[in-house]
Amino acid sequence: MILRKRTAILISGRGSNMAALIAAARAPDFPAEIVLVLSNKPDAEGLARAESAGIAVAAVDHKIYAGRDEFEASMQALLDIHRVELICLAGFMRVLSPPFVTRWRGRMLNIHPSLLPAFRGLDTHRRALDAGVKIHGCTVHFVEPELDSGPIVAQSFVSVCDDDTPETLAARVIEKEHALYAEALALVAAGRITLESGVAPKS
Ligand code: GRF
Repeated sequence: MILRKRTAILISGRGSNMAALIAAARAPDFPAEIVLVLSNKPDAEGLARAESAGIAVAAVDHKIYAGRDEFEASMQALLDIHRVELICLAGFMRVLSPPFVTRWRGRMLNIHPSLLPAFRGLDTHRRALDAGVKIHGCTVHFVEPELDSGPIVAQSFVSVCDDDTPETLAARVIEKEHALYAEALALVAAGRITLESGVAPKS
């Protein structure tokens, strides 16, 4: 019997990456088990999707807390209750504090819709088109306090077409994201990729 890592997914929106991780983790030999989905937005579409997949869900609405420390303490309490060992950020739109990130160092992944270190931050597809890149893609990385800067676990690329719009490019990248995140989570959950030195890629 394989020991599956108890994994939480943090979302803020539609949760298509979340759904891909839940689907991948249904395979009996997948080394992670999705035990909890947390959203900072009570109306996130992904919450209903996770619930209908039979996963425990909770909304931790950042707006009702006095500040980030209280918000994160509430999330941490839920992560503790569910004995979570790994966290996957999947379209989670709150910046996490250095103490929270440090606590989960090497055990928290994020997916970003660009080939990091290129195009950190938001609006990556439009910026990639504006820059005229011919290759674009997505990255799964360990989370470090500096945004979109942690050591890279895996990347997947797409070719950029001359007639691409941010929307057409996003549609091809998101398909890659779904496959990549499941592969990356499997590698980390199985202990085949670990964070050793924590040296972040230079931009
Ligand atoms: C994805 O493009 C992901 O890379 C980024 O936010 C988006 C979330 O989409 N961090 P979804 O909620 O997983 O559909």
